Amino acid sequence: MVRMQQSPIEIDCLIHNVGELATSQGSEIRGGKALGSLRIENGVALAIHQGKIEEVGPDADLTGRYQARQKIDAQGQLVVPGLVDAHTHPVFLGTREGEFEDRLRGKSYLEIAEGGGGILSSMLGVRNSTKEQLVQALLPRMDRFLSLGTTTVEAKSGYGLSLADEMKSLEAIAEANRLHPVDLVPTFLGAHDFPPEYRDRRGEYLALLRNEMLPAVAESGLAEYCDVFTESHVFGLDESRDLLNHAKELGFKVRLHVDQLTALGGAQLAAELGAASADHLEHVSDAGIDALGQAGVVPVLCPLVPLFLRESQEAPGRRMADAGLSVALATDFNPGSCYAMSLFEVLSYGALRYGLLAGEALTAATLNAACSLGRGDRIGTLEVGKQADVVITDLPGHRHLTYEMARSPVRHVIKSGKLVYTAAQVDRSTCE
Ligand code: NIG
Ligand code: FE
Repeated sequence: MVRMQQSPIEIDCLIHNVGELATSQGSEIRGGKALGSLRIENGVALAIHQGKIEEVGPDADLTGRYQARQKIDAQGQLVVPGLVDAHTHPVFLGTREGEFEDRLRGKSYLEIAEGGGGILSSMLGVRNSTKEQLVQALLPRMDRFLSLGTTTVEAKSGYGLSLADEMKSLEAIAEANRLHPVDLVPTFLGAHDFPPEYRDRRGEYLALLRNEMLPAVAESGLAEYCDVFTESHVFGLDESRDLLNHAKELGFKVRLHVDQLTALGGAQLAAELGAASADHLEHVSDAGIDALGQAGVVPVLCPLVPLFLRESQEAPGRRMADAGLSVALATDFNPGSCYAMSLFEVLSYGALRYGLLAGEALTAATLNAACSLGRGDRIGTLEVGKQADVVITDLPGHRHLTYEMARSPVRHVIKSGKLVYTAAQVDRSTCE
């Protein structure tokens, strides 16, 4: 019998020679045992076409059947989904290394904020800059996120604290999103602090937020989410509830900074509001953990922040995972409380500070983070039909994701099927 030789199928890209492919599975948040149960496949290839994953299968099979315009050799190493950072504040001009040193000398984050530093010092930077300057500050930051394997970044405004300066920040996010391969997910955080001109008229800033800023931002379509810094020295529970209920009426989805510095009960508020996420949670109570679990709110944990702020209280990450919550991990990149962009580093800290295993940490920084941003159906796993956001590492297996620290394991980043980053190589040719 003569068997017809099938002609190869043409595709855009083939990632071959994948030693280990490690990915979470599905489009829904994963908690309990599912948090850490990855799909692990050895000796596979990924066929990518028109920005999406076409097939994942044995290397020899796919390299035989597909003819790719671009072939990328994973060199027998670990391949994971593009990482998703569900909490960042990247729109600022000027850094705050002086405050970092003030903390080394013994001052606390709150003392610095009460002395006019903190968020308000970054506010001056944003108010004194143009939209173009903010875009020019954002783009190299997105380059760095990408080089560290992060392909989707939630980006908050919140250093403008006036209608014009918040809109300018959100416009800068939209422009950076157009100009850069990293996908930015915009969040309005006008309720980050009270600006100095409203210090003694807090009710008036709340009215401005409610009656002018929220409707104008909603009308502009420049933000998907609305966030509030719910904390005793800034927006209390009732103020946060009122603002966020109004935000929901205007069509925003909501996420909150809660229980970061004090045990205010913000987690329960996030549950009551049906928030997409409750972030920080260093001081969350058992009742708060129960409420988050029952409401299906994603706890977004930022383990580098207490380290950076020299605060001793850690979020009870292990307890939340054991309670079945679908935890996510994020950097909280910002100039004040965490000047760090590496989610790979956060995976290690999630392991060391909370006791998350490598599989749990990977799901937390990919699928669960993506679900908290309403994108679980498109990104967060390496499965057929999903957007081809892929990181090729130089690691031998997924347990090295948490085990190896303090350097980037990223060799190549593929975003929507396109190779957008390749790490530089050391030149050994000058040696004998
Ligand atoms: O997530 N908590 C509020 N916002 C940031 C800090 C912002 C700043 O200090 O500039 C945070 O830690
Ligand atoms: Fe934050």
